[in-house]
Amino acid sequence: MKKYNVGIIGYGWAAGAHIDAINATDKAQVTAIYSSRKLDDAEVSKKHGMAIKTYTDLDKMLADKDLHVVDITSYPSQHSAQAVAAANAKKHIILEKPMANTLQECRDIVAAAEKNKVRGCVCFECRWSNQFTVTNSVIKEGLLGDLHYAEVDYYHGIGPWYGQFRWNTGKKDGGSALLTAGCHALDSLLMFMGTEVEAVSSFSAKSKSSIFKPYEYDTTSVTIIHFKGGKVGKCAAVVDCLQPYYFHTHLVGSQGSLLDDRFHSMKLHTDKHHWSKLSMKMLDSGDVSDHPYQSQFQAFFDALDAGKDMPLTSLKESFKSFEVIFAADKSAAEGGRPVRIEELE
Ligand SMILES: NC(=O)c1ccc[n+]([C@@H]2O[C@H](COP(=O)([O-])OP(=O)(O)OC[C@H]3O[C@@H](n4cnc5c(N)ncnc54)[C@H](O)[C@@H]3O)[C@@H](O)[C@H]2O)c1
Repeated sequence: MKKYNVGIIGYGWAAGAHIDAINATDKAQVTAIYSSRKLDDAEVSKKHGMAIKTYTDLDKMLADKDLHVVDITSYPSQHSAQAVAAANAKKHIILEKPMANTLQECRDIVAAAEKNKVRGCVCFECRWSNQFTVTNSVIKEGLLGDLHYAEVDYYHGIGPWYGQFRWNTGKKDGGSALLTAGCHALDSLLMFMGTEVEAVSSFSAKSKSSIFKPYEYDTTSVTIIHFKGGKVGKCAAVVDCLQPYYFHTHLVGSQGSLLDDRFHSMKLHTDKHHWSKLSMKMLDSGDVSDHPYQSQFQAFFDALDAGKDMPLTSLKESFKSFEVIFAADKSAAEGGRPVRIEELE
C-alpha cells in the first residue's frame, strides 16, 4: 500500500523525471499537479498511468487534506514562497535545487518547515548517485586515510540547446554559476570532506563565446574553501564550457587518492604508479532522466515513516551547502575577498 500522496508544483522537464521516480518508489504516488498552464486531468492521468487532479490555483491544491507531500519543480525565484506556503499547509516538501536564490529565502524555508514540523528533501541527488555512494564507501572504509584536500568541479555547457536556457540566463532565476548548477559539485565536496567550513574565496569570469552572451551573470567561478581545522578544497562551476559534461572528483588523503573512478590506496597496497579502477555508474549527464531521484525519494519517504529527517539531503543539511554558496558568490562579487560563514547576514 502506497502511503504518501504527492502534489507537484510546476510541470516542466524536472517534473517529468520526478513523477516517474516518485511513482517508482514503494511508498508514494503523484495524485495532483499545480501548473500555471491549464492542464487536462484525463490527459495527464493517462500519461502517468494514475488518477491525477490538476490545479491552476496553488491554495486549492494545498487545501487538499489527502495530499501529504508537495514537490516543487518551478522556477528558482518561486521556490521560497511556494515552499513556505506548502509548509504552512502542513505538507512535507521535496524541493528542486537551488533551494532559493537568496540566503534569506533559504532561511525562510527552513524556519517554516521547523515551525510547522514538516520535513524536507532537497534535490542534491548526486549524493545518492552510484558514483558518490561508492566514493563515500571508499572514504568511510579508510582507503584514502584522512582527507586534507578535495577538488570537485562541475563542467556542463548550458547553452541554447538546453531547455532551461530561456530562463537560466537571467540573474533572477539563474542566480550564479554555483546556484544554477555548480551547487551539485560544491555540495558533494562538502559531503566528502565532512567538516564545517570556515571561509571561502571565489573569483568569477565569463566565456567570450557569443553562445553564452545572453547570460546576465558570470558563468564560470572557482572557489577555494578553507575548512575549520585547516583542510582545503576547490570547486569550479563552469556552465559556459564547450566540451562533454564532466563532473571532476579528485580527493587526496593520508593513505591515498581518488580521481573520478580510479584510486590508489596504501592501505590496499595498490601500485602507486598506476591507478586502480573502481566499477561505478558515472555522473556523466545533465539529463534529468539519468539522475538518481528514485533512490533519493525512496530514502525521503522511508525517513517520513521513521519520523526522522532524511540522511544526506534534508533541508538543514542542504541549507549548510547554500550558506557556503552565498558566501562564495559574495566573495566573487568583492573580488575574491575571503568571506567567513559567520559574517553572512
Ligand atoms: N537537480 C537537478 O539536477 C535539476 C535538473 C533540472 C532542473 N532542475 C531544477 O528544477 C527546476 C525546474 O527546472 P526545469 O528544467 O524543469 O524547468 P522547466 O522550464 O522545464 O519547468 C519549469 C516549470 O515551472 C512552470 N511554472 C511557471 N510558473 C509557474 C508558477 N507560478 N507556478 C508553478 N509552476 C510554474 C513552468 O511552466 C514550467 O513547466 C529548477 O529549479 C531547476 O533548477 C534541477
